[in-house]
Amino acid sequence: MHETAQRLYDRDRVIAGVEKLRFFPLALESGQGSWLVEAGGRRLLDLSATWTACGLGHGHPAVREALLRAAGAPPGAGALSAVHEDAVALAEELLDLTPGTGDRRVYFGHAGSDANDVAIRSAVHATGRPKVLAFEHSYHGGIGVAMKASGVHVEAGSVAADKQVLFTPYPDPYREPDRYERVIADLDEALAGRDVACLLVEPILSDGGLVVPPDGFLAEVAARCAAAGTLLVCDEVKVGLGRPGTWHAFEHDRITPDIVTFGKSLGAGVPISAAVGPAAVFDEPGASALLTQAGNPYSTAVARAVLAAYRAEGLVERAAQAGERLRQGLRKATAHLDVVGEVRGRGLAIGVDLVTDRASRERDPELAAKTVYRVWELGGVVFYVGGNVLEVTPPLVITDDEVDRAVELLAQGIEEASAGKVSDAQIAPFAGW
Ligand SMILES: Cc1ncc(COP(=O)(O)O)c(C=O)c1O
Repeated sequence: MHETAQRLYDRDRVIAGVEKLRFFPLALESGQGSWLVEAGGRRLLDLSATWTACGLGHGHPAVREALLRAAGAPPGAGALSAVHEDAVALAEELLDLTPGTGDRRVYFGHAGSDANDVAIRSAVHATGRPKVLAFEHSYHGGIGVAMKASGVHVEAGSVAADKQVLFTPYPDPYREPDRYERVIADLDEALAGRDVACLLVEPILSDGGLVVPPDGFLAEVAARCAAAGTLLVCDEVKVGLGRPGTWHAFEHDRITPDIVTFGKSLGAGVPISAAVGPAAVFDEPGASALLTQAGNPYSTAVARAVLAAYRAEGLVERAAQAGERLRQGLRKATAHLDVVGEVRGRGLAIGVDLVTDRASRERDPELAAKTVYRVWELGGVVFYVGGNVLEVTPPLVITDDEVDRAVELLAQGIEEASAGKVSDAQIAPFAGW
């Protein structure tokens, strides 16, 4: 590790541990396109996009221009007690982008966490029902009720279980292909009491292990929610907004959720989130979800620029093509590696499931930890989810050459990590997930 990067990384001890999730000692000074530059100058191919937040890549001119425009003469710092053009226009654009019927509203926040939190609280208030349903191994946020509705947090004990928040299994076509009917039966049972205000679903389970549900699953979920009078909240925060090769991940099953939440890549690194849903849910009670700087001129200007750039550069279609090339490339390059159980995903939301061997499909979390470390040593940034699944989510601007380089890096990283090139001591300081 370069001594400049090491020095910076050592100084990081002043930042609170509660907000860190580290996999290797990554200390960065800049970024451009699909590349990050480590302190000291080493270039790293970014295969995470900061957990998808940098969908537009790093240093995109559209983001710079939007920020400069907003900073030149900002109309205050938030939309709490005044309206301004970018906030209203962004809300209109999100309504156009998101399918739905009737009178709808857009809530603006700072992070996927608060968008989900407000969606849940508003759903409970609007329906008068006390319960919330989410999926096991889900992730919806790191604060408030959104955290309590995150299977990953509850399972890890990082938040106390809440009696009003229920969890039901998500289908797992790779490990439990025969359990699908049971999953649907459990869902029916959870909704049967007609006391569930809302069901939160990730159309692709991301932090839980990049699990792609069977075709038709979301349609079954939506039909059941409608029959039970439960609002369906689709969490598009991580793998939505173009990444799956469609604007929304839920489009795959042609459903129209009641509420859709956005975050991460909407702001290209600038904090902003949104929840889109019925006016009857999001208008009442007034003044019950106040954040002083929500809807601020910088975040809303950038989000508008992000949506415009996605359109102008055809990035949704690009995500579908690049994702196909990446998956095919990875399957071919790792065909000889018995530790690669499956390469799956949609568009540029890709999971590489690492196992002790293909026959057993047993998860290999140690190999995942060592692989991400080795890939970093070789010149790439990738993290793992669900304990043993490499989550490959590069910026949507990735070129074909970069896709091919990603394939090489990942295949070499897996092969060398499984051959023992990374020691236990090297990964010991990094708890990861
Ligand atoms: C599906 C999903 N929803 C919500 C969130 C929370 O977003 P944030 O960390 O920006 O608050 C995340 C974060 O990883 C996520 O993956």
